[in-house]
Amino acid sequence: MPLPGITIRPADEDDNAAIKTLVETSFGSRYDPMERDRTLSLFPLEDSIVAVENGQIVGHVQSTTMTVTVPGERTVPVCGITGVCVAPTHRRRGILRAMYTEQHRRVEAAGLPLTMFTVSEGGIYGRFGYGPATWENAVGIDRKLAEFRSSAPDPGGVTLCAPSDIRAAAEAIYDRWRRLTPGAQTRPAASWDILFDAPQRSRGHDSDLFAMRHADGYVLYRFHSEGWTKTIDIVELRTVTTTAHAALWRTLLGLDLVQQVRGTLTDHDPLLYLLSDSRLVRTTARYDVLWLRLMDIPAALMARTYMNDLDVVVDVTDPFRNAGGRFALRVRDGKATCEPTGRAADLECGIDVLGSMYLGAHSARVFAAANRLRAKDSARLHALDAAFRVERDAALGWFF
Ligand SMILES: CC(C)(COP(=O)(O)OP(=O)(O)OC[C@H]1O[C@@H](n2cnc3c(N)ncnc32)[C@H](O)[C@@H]1OP(=O)(O)O)[C@@H](O)C(=O)NCCC(=O)NCCS
Repeated sequence: MPLPGITIRPADEDDNAAIKTLVETSFGSRYDPMERDRTLSLFPLEDSIVAVENGQIVGHVQSTTMTVTVPGERTVPVCGITGVCVAPTHRRRGILRAMYTEQHRRVEAAGLPLTMFTVSEGGIYGRFGYGPATWENAVGIDRKLAEFRSSAPDPGGVTLCAPSDIRAAAEAIYDRWRRLTPGAQTRPAASWDILFDAPQRSRGHDSDLFAMRHADGYVLYRFHSEGWTKTIDIVELRTVTTTAHAALWRTLLGLDLVQQVRGTLTDHDPLLYLLSDSRLVRTTARYDVLWLRLMDIPAALMARTYMNDLDVVVDVTDPFRNAGGRFALRVRDGKATCEPTGRAADLECGIDVLGSMYLGAHSARVFAAANRLRAKDSARLHALDAAFRVERDAALGWFF
């Protein structure tokens, strides 16, 4: 519905300064000029949407098309959205809803099956059909006490290097990693520039970036020093093989003067099982990272593969876009067909629930226990649950 006095339109070059002020004010941090240029190369200004009142920018959304891996090591083009903000002078008048209506109209016109983003607050986006779709666990490891089991591999093969010497290798390893990992995106040069220019932005007690590499993995990290107490903060650790995973963790946990190593793990990271005392991997926080929405239900459901055969009719509600309906989902040998149907439903859920289940990080059975998914019988619920499982934890590749 149009908002009186508010125009929703594409951004142009003249809006740049006002958008920068709005985004900085909304998120409470300043861009340095080079970072703003890089952000614009990732999310081109001409693809941004602004809300304008009396010539003043009061709302902003930016987006780009990304190539994202879905279960089955397949890739799909996805709309990635970021920089969503409305001026505090204009909040709760429906401006976000108006900009999102336009944003999703564009995605539909472009024929993209999925949209995704990271969110500032968990209570906003369910109404727009998004569900949290990946988990991360922030952990702290007491390095001085950590010991590897005698059965843990000790493959070696790690070299210490300057961050400037690792970039090309890291890009190649990342690319292999993201092809295997549901939720991970191809990574443009500007995102690598932002990561590797971080040394210049180190402040306070944090060191510049340090790096280690293996043929099938890399880690970038910083030291955080307070007096003689040193902690390592892992900035990015990507491994393609379990050998590289064990080798890099052994080297990180071998840094003698370090008290604690902090990083993030997905739910099934094998580190816990490599150590004699798994409690030393202490989870300090757990949070969602990527949120996902199905834009074209049949196209999205047919894009990924499944772990077992399935024959169900799913009734999906989508109040925001009115793009739900009843769909027959049939899986044979991992591959799905999906089409609208008039048959009675076996399962019912909101489209946000499908978004959460899509990359395998959330279970249909747990949604059913919370009455967010209703099944005609438990056999079909269990079949759905098993079909949506994945072999590798989903993860966001690079943050946006
Ligand atoms: C979050 C933000 C974009 C909302 O903009 P807005 O124009 O006030 O939102 P709208 O008025 O269009 O609200 C749309 C719906 O979302 C709900 N909503 C908006 N902000 C919400 C919040 N923080 N928590 C829960 N619900 C929220 C509204 O109640 C409304 O619900 P309804 O349409 O179902 O009745 C704005 O407050 C903002 O810029 N915040 C700071 C930056 C930020 O957090 N951006 C999001 C980054 S992911």
